[in-house]
Amino acid sequence: MANSSRAPGRSRRLRAALVVSAAVGLLATAGAVVLPGSASAASTLGASAAERGRYFGTAVAVSRLNDSAYTTILNREFNQVTAENEMKIDALQPNQGQFNYGNADRLVQHARSQGMLVRGHTLAWHSQQPGWMQNMSGTTLRNAMLNHVTQVATHFRGQIEWWDVVNEAFADGGSGARRDSNLQRTGNDWIEAAFRAARQADPNADLCYNDYNIDNWSDAKTQAVYRMVQDFKSRGVPIDCVGLQSHFTGGSNYPSNYRTTLSSFAALGVDVHITELDIRNAPSDAYRNVVNDCLAVARCKGITVWGIRDSDSWRSSENPLLFNGSGQKKPAYDAVLAALNNGTTPPTGNPTTPPPTGNPTTPPPGGGCTATVTPGQVWGDRYNTSVTVSGASTWSVVVAITPPQRISSTWSGSPTWDSSGNVMTMRSNGSGNTFGFTTMMNGNSSARPQIRSCTAG
Ligand code: XIL
Repeated sequence: MANSSRAPGRSRRLRAALVVSAAVGLLATAGAVVLPGSASAASTLGASAAERGRYFGTAVAVSRLNDSAYTTILNREFNQVTAENEMKIDALQPNQGQFNYGNADRLVQHARSQGMLVRGHTLAWHSQQPGWMQNMSGTTLRNAMLNHVTQVATHFRGQIEWWDVVNEAFADGGSGARRDSNLQRTGNDWIEAAFRAARQADPNADLCYNDYNIDNWSDAKTQAVYRMVQDFKSRGVPIDCVGLQSHFTGGSNYPSNYRTTLSSFAALGVDVHITELDIRNAPSDAYRNVVNDCLAVARCKGITVWGIRDSDSWRSSENPLLFNGSGQKKPAYDAVLAALNNGTTPPTGNPTTPPPTGNPTTPPPGGGCTATVTPGQVWGDRYNTSVTVSGASTWSVVVAITPPQRISSTWSGSPTWDSSGNVMTMRSNGSGNTFGFTTMMNGNSSARPQIRSCTAG
């Protein structure tokens, strides 16, 4: 977050956009039993990643949101989503000047309703261009590309945590050169022009360069991307992060120096993201290594797998994902969850003693359940809370936050918000009786969430 070109507090404001904001006074604690100490091992990928200050996400095909088996896993396990195809150029601007946001908006709405963060993918790319753009060149293409970046980033302003501004702009092999494409032929500065347009259109989103085969630190392509990011940082081109697709499918493998790659990019002053992970035959060891490598690098913000079930994968014949075609957890799932749960506390920020304010009081009468608060990890700018419900298997729990604090993400429940944005009603969604959330302090480091009620049913 030490980027001179970034607006102060940008990310905080963006995360706050996940909730509707306004003010609510300090509320009396009711129905909460506050326990010291940390939560027990989390039982879902998103919850466990959040306890370590990370996200665990998946690519989503919007058409599959109608498949309840799919959506059940999505809502239970993941706290971040990337549109698999629905935010690509051909999907959003099928005809020049005619934008089609329906499917993408549907995914964003779903994510918001579940407290999931959204990665925008992707604003400028040589592939999946609409026919009209494929046929363009020169200044006409450059302007059309910049207009697309501006229009799309403006449309989604406030809803996108990270944009893959430019995707796959480097060539494979040993050349270290840019990939030839119609965009590249508009001039070598097309990438930085896209980043500048994106920053202007949505100053609150983090802007990423995303590519595949940049996992092995020794590869010429990795080194070439590294040098571009280094150059952008030195010249003040607005870039906040690098996405490593990490498709260890299609003939690519997890490299033993992967952690070096992550930490080397991070040392340039950008965050790193593992954006499209899949691994041929889903070996537990490689999945575990990827998780451990991310957890070892403070600026590795999270992991996104490229689909939920093997049958959802773009490379389904390689069975590369964490759930089988029937939606059952594979051994790699258990390895990933265990690695997340075993992960040390996040190296970012400065863990402090959680100072829950307010006294535990007796649960309010008549609710039919009890909500027990367990304070979680605390960082310099945010903290986690988990809440366990007893006495009912379906329930809704009302949680109030003291502004300017804001809940930035949630897991293992379905949240809705009052008009102030400071009161969240979390309903059970079939993923157990413990839910959790991350709260941004926004300058108030002492207040803690208050449970207002727990209602069975
Ligand atoms: C893939 C999708 O998974 C497929 O459904 C589509 O047919 C092609 O694109 N790198 C990327 C992703 O950045 O957008 C690609 O997604 C996979 C490779």
